[in-house]
Amino acid sequence: MAISLNYISRDPAASVFASVSSDVGVGLRYLLYLAPALPILVLPHWAHAASFQNAMQPAGIQAEKILDLWWLTLGICTVVFIAVLAAFLYAVWRAPRANEQTGADISPLRSVEPLSKRAVLLAVAASTVLLFLLLIADVMTDRALAQLPLGDGIHIELTGHRWWWEARYTADPPSRMFNTANELHIPVGKPVVISLKSSDVIHSFWVPNLHGKKDLIPGRTTTITLRADKPGIYRGQCAEFCGYQHAKMALLVIAEPEAEYEAWAEQQRQSAAQPTTEPAIAGQHIFLATTCISCHTVQGTPAQASLGPDLTHIASRQTIAAGTLPNTRAHLTAWVKDPQKFKLMANMPSSPLSGDELQAVIAYLETLK
Ligand code: CUA
Repeated sequence: MAISLNYISRDPAASVFASVSSDVGVGLRYLLYLAPALPILVLPHWAHAASFQNAMQPAGIQAEKILDLWWLTLGICTVVFIAVLAAFLYAVWRAPRANEQTGADISPLRSVEPLSKRAVLLAVAASTVLLFLLLIADVMTDRALAQLPLGDGIHIELTGHRWWWEARYTADPPSRMFNTANELHIPVGKPVVISLKSSDVIHSFWVPNLHGKKDLIPGRTTTITLRADKPGIYRGQCAEFCGYQHAKMALLVIAEPEAEYEAWAEQQRQSAAQPTTEPAIAGQHIFLATTCISCHTVQGTPAQASLGPDLTHIASRQTIAAGTLPNTRAHLTAWVKDPQKFKLMANMPSSPLSGDELQAVIAYLETLK
């Protein structure tokens, strides 16, 4: 270390650095070295900030185990970081100072320092032990994640599309199956088995409060199991770049008490209610007469396509366009009128409907509770 510092001090930039250190004081320079460690001091505050998409606030047993592993990794890395920094600062402190007049001191090159050799061996041994410790913790966490008991769990088939999530709640008998999109409801305390598929490119399912990531791979089914132990609304996000609107491929997971979940599921199984008000009836006619039905399903009507999200109960969802907009009348109107404005290159084209027709269609969609 001493050798290299002597060489470095030959370079003008290093000389400037050296003169700064002598003028302002060595302490300030050492503070600069410590700057990268600042996030570690700030982290605990950030960790406690409330958020509904936050791996630091686990709402399920698996996210908890992942967080434990994360803290262990952070702890070990922090200790190593501080140790390396301390060794570095010690080397800097004990190095002989050079200036423009003194020549390079290369005498240590010709001798072997027994202390350095021992220190290096010790550091290699410590690194090996720590890396093995992390490896063992990693394997143990992985095994623990795979051991969630799955009896009486609910099963969901989740298909990734560019850029939305198609969900099918499978059931026995099949008449109890239902489809929805971009919003999963799950019962608190019950295991959930999610089969992951993709219709186009690789996506990744990630709901940080509940579990780690799992990819959705075309032509292959993967499975993720999770359990929410705290009721709440948890935001998930596609975590694998899948094209232009990858960032707008979100979903909500709503964990609720079992009775509420059952009520929700029962409602989702029903066909859409027939509209009763005049604008909604007109809206339904327009909806069924236009290209909307080339892509969407509304159970109980002739609209049975599956290129886009199932709209049978769209009014019961909190967001539209895969978490892009809150599900309000204004947003829904703006979205149907010109989806490209919010999600350029999404498959849904701008609407050719006149103002009145559009209002009628929105009135109809709002009845789809
Ligand atoms: Cu789907 Cu990124």
